[in-house]
Amino acid sequence: MDGAPAEEEGIHQWSELAQVPKPLRKYWYQRYLVWDRYDEGVWMTEHAWFGVTPESIANTIAVHLSEAVSEEKDVIIDAFAGVGGNAIAFAREGRWKQIFAIEKDPATMKCAKHNAKIYGVEDKITWITGDCFDVLEERFRDMGNTVVFASPPWGGSEYSDVGVFDLEKMQPYNLETLFKAFTRISNNLVLYLPRTSDLNQIAKYAPLGKKLEVTHYCIKGASKALCVYFGDYNFPAADEEEEKAVQTGQ
Ligand SMILES: C[S@@+](CC[C@H](N)C(=O)[O-])C[C@H]1O[C@@H](n2cnc3c(N)ncnc32)[C@H](O)[C@@H]1O
Repeated sequence: MDGAPAEEEGIHQWSELAQVPKPLRKYWYQRYLVWDRYDEGVWMTEHAWFGVTPESIANTIAVHLSEAVSEEKDVIIDAFAGVGGNAIAFAREGRWKQIFAIEKDPATMKCAKHNAKIYGVEDKITWITGDCFDVLEERFRDMGNTVVFASPPWGGSEYSDVGVFDLEKMQPYNLETLFKAFTRISNNLVLYLPRTSDLNQIAKYAPLGKKLEVTHYCIKGASKALCVYFGDYNFPAADEEEEKAVQTGQ
């Protein structure tokens, strides 16, 4: 892949263990789960290792969404694009007429564009560097054909295998903030949230008499995260399962 990463901006292309700061090594060992083409020169920021969507999960979400959303929805907005995990998967899946990827951090955005180039989809994505709440208000109000996908930062509540993740304490944007802002833009909203998210908090957003689809995405039998699908979708057997787990190919 062309070009060296801009180390001075905090962009890295770590190919050897010795390059990786100790606290990030456990993430780096998983690099091929995160990016199948890691060795082709994927760029990451240090922060991105904590939040990037692993490739097999991003691909599975892209297929699910594509199959379940109505045909007239042909624009997808990745509101928190990060280093490109989900936006790249949406572009590779091929269903969308337009894909917008919004990211507020310029170095992270640089990584996303570079990584999309590795996967051959840089030109299929419209990249917007900025605050997604402002960008959505300014550019995407009153577009009926959009789906908003959002994988927000998960700060705030402490993560634990046994505990329940409090979505109202999620920082810097809690569930209510995200739901309100994004459903102003589209009634099809997908939120990518911690696997231990409080389902009772999520259920409050189900329209009267309706259920929300919640899918766990698993690698090697363990849930890594879940997606909540707000709005109308046509999921097979959605009326039979309140919550389901999907095993990705890894
Ligand atoms: C969990 S990461 C997204 C990971 C992404 N799905 C991926 O696979 O790389 C969240 C990202 O949202 C960005 N972010 C946080 N607040 C934002 C905002 N208001 N507007 C746009 N991006 C924001 C952060 O810089 C971070 O890169």
